[in-house]
Amino acid sequence: MSAAPQPGLFAVGAGSQLYLELDRARGARERSLIRAVASLREPRTTMAGVNLVAGFRPELWRRVAPRGIPRAVAGFNRDLRGADGYVMPATQHDAVLWFSGAAPDVVFDEARAALRALASVATVAEETVGWPYRQDRDLTGFVDGTENPTLGEAPTVALVRDGQPGAGGSVLLLQKWQHRAARWEALPVAAQERVIGRSKPDSIEMDPKPPDSHAERTDQDRFGKIFRRNVAYGGVSDHGTMFVGFCHSQRPLARMLESMAGIPDGVRDALTDYTRPLSGGYYFVPAWSALKTFAASDADVG
Ligand code: HEM
Repeated sequence: MSAAPQPGLFAVGAGSQLYLELDRARGARERSLIRAVASLREPRTTMAGVNLVAGFRPELWRRVAPRGIPRAVAGFNRDLRGADGYVMPATQHDAVLWFSGAAPDVVFDEARAALRALASVATVAEETVGWPYRQDRDLTGFVDGTENPTLGEAPTVALVRDGQPGAGGSVLLLQKWQHRAARWEALPVAAQERVIGRSKPDSIEMDPKPPDSHAERTDQDRFGKIFRRNVAYGGVSDHGTMFVGFCHSQRPLARMLESMAGIPDGVRDALTDYTRPLSGGYYFVPAWSALKTFAASDADVG
């Protein structure tokens, strides 16, 4: 039987999101952290529920499940430095929990219950609330996700293939980008469109795309396909984009970041003049079926 992925990866349309990046509590074993996360209940009926997607620092998961992850996957362990002194900071943590649901109250309650269950094994390092902006736009005002695979194609793009180590799992890049809103909004729309490489009202791709445009610097025909689940975060005075990108392999994600930073050719993504990465972590999101092998049996759950 093929590995069953964590279903929340593909559960689009939820109005409320929460990302908790966790560090292992002092003295807690890596296996205990995985076991506690694997034992969390995802409350779901056919009518309602909260999706929970759990991922781990790749090196941590590999130590506990040596054959449960593709060989090349590694954490965001060093700052990424661009040609002109540009830096994307590495802020890797041990685990991530991504909750999504219909409304903030159910997400809030579930996340608090999860943190109570994990109290002896993990502490919260980063907490970010995400919310959809005007259906499918990010806070630049552009449609975000136009070139995403369809939900039918997304598993092929996002999941490690059957028969490979870590089958049914996914590599997640989680990166929080603060927008320089005043600077961005001072640009005329035509200039904004040249930064993104697409039109603002209806997301039509430019032909040709400017060489430093975001769509050119992350061109999936060159780097390979990824599956993005980005959301807006923050309040009126400080906000941006939570980049949430999944792929069956780390390579396309890492190469896109290098390209945005101008590492291959000195051309930096124009979007990086208007947004600033505050965090960066890679997590391996194991298949649901792989994660559950670590879960405590019902008799063990207190
Ligand atoms: C502030 C952060 C970011 C914002 C606001 C943003 C926004 C956008 C927008 C508006 C588009 C055009 C529409 C679309 O095809 O979705 C786009 C495309 C894309 N972005 Fe981003 N993005 C951000 C960061 C990133 C990062 C960090 C990556 C990769 C690591 C990335 C990968 C992509 C890809 C693969 C495409 C489609 C390119 C293509 O094949 O045409 N983005 N993004």
